[in-house]
Amino acid sequence: MCFPICSARCMSFKTREGSLKAAKNLVEKGISNLVVIGGDGSLTGANRFRKDWSELLKELVESKELSCEVAANHSHLNIVGMVGSIDNDFCGTDMTIGTDSALHRIIEAVDAIMPTAFSHQRTFIMEVMGRHCGYLALVAGIVTEADFVFIPEWPPESNWPETLCDKLGGERRTGQRLNIIIVSEGAIDRDGNPITADAVKKVVVDKLQQDTRVTVLGHVQRGGAPTAFDRILGCRMGAEAVLALMDATPTTPPCVVSLDGNAAVRVPLMACVEKTQAVTKAMEAKNWDLAVQLRGKSFQRNLETYQLLTRSKPPLPTAEKTGWNLAVMHIGAPCCGMNAAVRSFTRNSIYTGNNPIGIHNGIDGLLKGEVKPIGWADVTGWVSEGGALLGTKRTMPDKDFAAVAEQLEIGRAHV
Ligand code: F6P
Repeated sequence: MCFPICSARCMSFKTREGSLKAAKNLVEKGISNLVVIGGDGSLTGANRFRKDWSELLKELVESKELSCEVAANHSHLNIVGMVGSIDNDFCGTDMTIGTDSALHRIIEAVDAIMPTAFSHQRTFIMEVMGRHCGYLALVAGIVTEADFVFIPEWPPESNWPETLCDKLGGERRTGQRLNIIIVSEGAIDRDGNPITADAVKKVVVDKLQQDTRVTVLGHVQRGGAPTAFDRILGCRMGAEAVLALMDATPTTPPCVVSLDGNAAVRVPLMACVEKTQAVTKAMEAKNWDLAVQLRGKSFQRNLETYQLLTRSKPPLPTAEKTGWNLAVMHIGAPCCGMNAAVRSFTRNSIYTGNNPIGIHNGIDGLLKGEVKPIGWADVTGWVSEGGALLGTKRTMPDKDFAAVAEQLEIGRAHV
């Protein structure tokens, strides 16, 4: 039978009375090991509750709500946290439970909007969740190839309306039929004033007269079935939490089960809470570099990746150009994500001053000389495409090593 635990944002838990009531209830139910699954606010609250535990029991004894004996039997509360939040806003873990599923909802929504945008040559502004954290908007921007992203940690320069319109206008002039802009609900400018989806729409309509619509995704981002990643993340985190509680002693500091690369690890709850609060303080102080840095390496890398891949034109050549011919090909069966890899490969090759080359249709294509340079704009729209747009074959190079070598040599000379 289904026994839902459900969830709540309990404001009274923030008060002393609320905490006293919670402590009394736990003691009366004989609970001294607690797993808290929640976001930044929940884990901050759990950290405080654990810190206050002895004082709370003392107060309950003084007010005669608990006997000295019962309080003594519950002198320690072990707490293990797991970060469940679609926002991926907690420092200390690479991913929070629920973020991947929310991202998936966003991708589905953008994909579903593309046909209308394409047909009517419209600009769509998608508002996604993230009151204080731009992770969803940023990563959604990368994976949907959005033209512009507004996030709270990295506000645009004050001339953003011009920058935005230059980009959108330039793209339309090169034949792009639609534009997608992703706005985090917490997006702000460099003075800390909100940038709303409607304000962005007004800029696009006033300056470019583009047919523009706003779509607010709202709570659909929290719903639906969890993705494979979230299912496995939840399974692993839950199991690790039990092990952490079993290892806990009265002197063990409360921990959070978090994801470090591919490993489930335990990190101190207090340090994570403090670092997460430091991000808020950095944003309040308008120290955007620090805010991005405190969000962690994966956030920084995502921001860099977005800034690199979203350019509509290749960057101007730099002095350090090495000018290597870098070829990419598929061998074997296609799978999702291959085209995104070729797009990144292409753009990063150009970005670093090299010459990307596509070998079409695997080894068979190479033997037939199907070798062509790939340009910056050739790979636009590839991230969301399934299969292998370059074509692939299962043929291995040992079919004819000498002929393969000869083709590579020809390619080197002619590309
Ligand atoms: O805090 C997580 C979050 O998903 C935010 O990104 C969002 O603004 C908020 O929850 C929405 O909360 P509610 O469901 O109370 O409207």
